[in-house]
Amino acid sequence: MPLLHHVLLGFIFLLSLHTPVSSAATDTVSPAYALAGNNKLVSNNKKFALGFFKPGNESSNTNHNTYLGIWFNKVTKLTPLWTANGENPVVDPASPELTISGDGNLAIFDHATKSIIWSTRANITANDTIAVLLNNGNLVLRSSSNSSNIFWQSFDYPTDTLFAGAKIGWDKVTGLNRRLVSRKNSIDQAPGIYSLELGLNGDGHLLWNSTITYWSSGDWNGRYFGLAPEMIGAVMPNFTFVHNDQEAYFTYTLYDDTAIVHTGLDVFGRGLVGIWLEGKQDWLMNYRQPVVHCDVHAICGPFTICDDNKDPFCDCMKGFSVRSQEDWELDDRTGGCIRNTPLSCDSSKDRTGLTDKFYPVQSIGLPHNAEIVRAATSGDECSQVCLSNCSCTAYSYGKGGCSIWHDDLYNVKQLSDTSDGNEGVLYIRLAAKELQSSERKRSAKIIRVAIGASIGALFLMILLLIVWVRKRKWFAPTQEQPECGIGIVAFRYIDLQRATKNFSEKLGGGSFGSVFKGYLSDSTIAVKRLDGARQGEKQFRAEVNSIGIIQHINLVKLIGFCCEGDNRLLVYEYMQNRSLDVCLFEANNIVLDWTIRYQIAMGVAKGLAYLHNSCRDCIIHCDIKPENILLDASYVPKIADFGMAKILGREFSRAMTTMRGTIGYMAPEWISGTVVTSKVDVYSYGMVLFEIISGRRNSSHEYFRDGDYSFFFPMQVARKLLYGDIGSIVDANLKGDVNLMEVERACKIACWCIQDNEFDRPTMGEVVQSLEGLLELDMPPLPRLLNAITGGSHPVTPQYFDSKSAC
Ligand SMILES: *[C@@H]1O[C@H](CO)[C@@H](O)[C@H](O)[C@H]1NC(C)=O
Ligand SMILES: *[C@@H]1O[C@H](CO)[C@@H](O)[C@H](O)[C@H]1NC(C)=O
Ligand SMILES: *[C@@H]1O[C@H](CO)[C@@H](O)[C@H](O)[C@H]1NC(C)=O
Ligand SMILES: *[C@@H]1O[C@H](CO)[C@@H](O)[C@H](O)[C@H]1NC(C)=O
Ligand SMILES: *[C@@H]1O[C@H](CO)[C@@H](O)[C@H](O)[C@H]1NC(C)=O
Ligand SMILES: *[C@@H]1O[C@H](CO)[C@@H](O)[C@H](O)[C@H]1NC(C)=O
Ligand SMILES: *[C@@H]1O[C@H](CO)[C@@H](O)[C@H](O)[C@H]1NC(C)=O
Repeated sequence: MPLLHHVLLGFIFLLSLHTPVSSAATDTVSPAYALAGNNKLVSNNKKFALGFFKPGNESSNTNHNTYLGIWFNKVTKLTPLWTANGENPVVDPASPELTISGDGNLAIFDHATKSIIWSTRANITANDTIAVLLNNGNLVLRSSSNSSNIFWQSFDYPTDTLFAGAKIGWDKVTGLNRRLVSRKNSIDQAPGIYSLELGLNGDGHLLWNSTITYWSSGDWNGRYFGLAPEMIGAVMPNFTFVHNDQEAYFTYTLYDDTAIVHTGLDVFGRGLVGIWLEGKQDWLMNYRQPVVHCDVHAICGPFTICDDNKDPFCDCMKGFSVRSQEDWELDDRTGGCIRNTPLSCDSSKDRTGLTDKFYPVQSIGLPHNAEIVRAATSGDECSQVCLSNCSCTAYSYGKGGCSIWHDDLYNVKQLSDTSDGNEGVLYIRLAAKELQSSERKRSAKIIRVAIGASIGALFLMILLLIVWVRKRKWFAPTQEQPECGIGIVAFRYIDLQRATKNFSEKLGGGSFGSVFKGYLSDSTIAVKRLDGARQGEKQFRAEVNSIGIIQHINLVKLIGFCCEGDNRLLVYEYMQNRSLDVCLFEANNIVLDWTIRYQIAMGVAKGLAYLHNSCRDCIIHCDIKPENILLDASYVPKIADFGMAKILGREFSRAMTTMRGTIGYMAPEWISGTVVTSKVDVYSYGMVLFEIISGRRNSSHEYFRDGDYSFFFPMQVARKLLYGDIGSIVDANLKGDVNLMEVERACKIACWCIQDNEFDRPTMGEVVQSLEGLLELDMPPLPRLLNAITGGSHPVTPQYFDSKSAC
């Protein structure tokens, strides 16, 4: 994103403004200079600092541990990047000192106990060693007379962060394996249970307790690891994998050395890449793997349910309580939960004589380590099998038969979509007493709730009836049209070759392949040759047919396809007026008048609303941009390339992330790799709407005069909406011939569409209604991310913060 690049360049400016520093800021520890107290080493370029730090909340005073570490000098939120003595913290009230010890090693000396707490423990062959914090954040112990005589370096002993220029992986000569290890919790810097390692084959793994792999990167393909295409996303550093006889390692460089980028492993076992936003004074996490917490092995510990839609995402199962509240609050949940009441099976002295019972938990992602009991052929039998063995703690009976689990239960996930049937119901074994008490409580509650519930149920039934009647109205036509899907023609490759004159007239290079003009006897067609489709023929045909059913005046019509050998082609109707980008941005085209622009905005909104709501599965387009909005002879807009996610499968997300060019249209949650909803299309639509109004690309360089981001078009619009004079920002080529009410409406809608939080954005249905003037809009708040990226240097007027969702 050029925008972000500008911001990052801004750091240079900031850094060159340093004030004359006191003599204390050196980058070297020598026999003559030891480091103690609040003094720190600062690298020559002022980017990194090394010193003693105390993580956690100063005022709550629970933590007495001091560590030696390296952090970003400029970052105000303490973010340790490397820690020397994670396992051996200095405990208050000791006064640690970092010195060159008698044997030439770098060591932490504790004056209180007169002992060495930590040392580099290298074989020193010089009598003049010094320790220097280099510009890349590497702390090296070297000879002071010969800077290439290095005895030890912190880059060889990383903790949870991979510095730019450092390596993770193997030195095959010395056998050194550099790996990242998570920290124990949010303040304890001791090694945790998660690690990131490079296998000898050169694929990255995230591991639990060095044994269980819960995420793999896939193979390196020259540019990124196969299963992590996000690595070459817009704001990511330049990653490289090197494999030769001596070494196998993974490293990265920054496109801009002044950028503050944090790459590593968080306390929850997830890989991350974050960027420090100076304007926002906070980290922007733009990559995390696994995407959701619950995919990390044993993240919540035993007897918990993980639900990423909740905060905190870990919760104890019924009948269990948190083992260690303190660890839990420090983000170390690996201890999990323990039983409130022992199972009767476990204690021989059970006086009640009751057998254990099972408590069902619905919609559960079941743990993988089940024992399958083939002998049990019903739910009852399955529960009996479990009861008969004291170590059995849960069972599930479903399509896969009877599954039982022994001992600690890990990785139980709450699924959001309620699946019906028995599949995904986990029966947890509890002491009978545990269930009795809750039943008694429940029956008291039931009476109280019953009256309220029956009234509620009545309303619900009426509501359901209404929805049902409506749904029938919506769905009836599509379901009863027998011609749907039959209209799709299967072309022979040779016919398409002839129609396109052997693919000679190229219309454009789309996102997933090239498009060629072709002529059939009675019509003109556009033939798209897909590059990435590796699906089997059967699946391709099925997906094409399901896409072919989707027809709407504002969607490009799929006429047919071809599927022969490796060739995958799609045949569309031909659009005379090309695409919106050509009409808006290319100089020698006729200027689209305002009425047509408004019609285009409306049509695209309707097409998207149809994709999102009206066809059987919600289809998210994921790639709305002017290039994908085609215009027919009378400038009716038609959305192209929808349904590609289905046709291309996994290849689709790969293609998406390789397209740096379209980043300006991508919603923040899409970049950060979280689950996308139809609101990503709303965001992209908003960005396109700005361009329809201005007639220029949002990323146009005219908007970044002299590094002043206040000219970024969406920012201009936000200001003009507030202070009036909205007419002045419309495309000058229109010469003021516009409907000002429509312009204002469009500007407000566009601002609402690009809100950071997807829940603040309208649905496409609401956009259509607003464009039609049926829905009145409030003044939109300024998107926070936008404000942060543009430096936040221009004070945002207080009015914005009065609006409902700003900050
Ligand atoms: C520190 O803890 C106190 C009380 O526990 C809390 O009020 C305060 O906001 C915390 N400060 C920080 C910086 O977290
Ligand atoms: C240091 O030297 C000793 C004796 O030569 C050797 O056994 C040891 O492995 C060396 N240690 C390192 C870290 O190279
Ligand atoms: C360090 O070693 C060199 C030779 O290896 C010697 O000439 C020098 O005197 C020594 N310096 C000190 C301070 O011991
Ligand atoms: C400096 O140290 C390196 C590495 O130990 C060595 O190869 C080189 O000869 C040394 N240079 C001098 C001038 O001593
Ligand atoms: C991790 O592995 C070690 C040895 O492989 C084992 O002793 C230890 O119990 C394991 N930790 C947990 C929490 O299972
Ligand atoms: C990315 O890194 C590789 C290896 O360090 C280097 O060859 C390449 O030029 C870099 N690419 C860019 C765009 O900086
Ligand atoms: C209970 O199940 C465990 C694990 O399958 C097994 O090792 C053990 O022998 C079983 N105990 C009984 C009494 O069947």
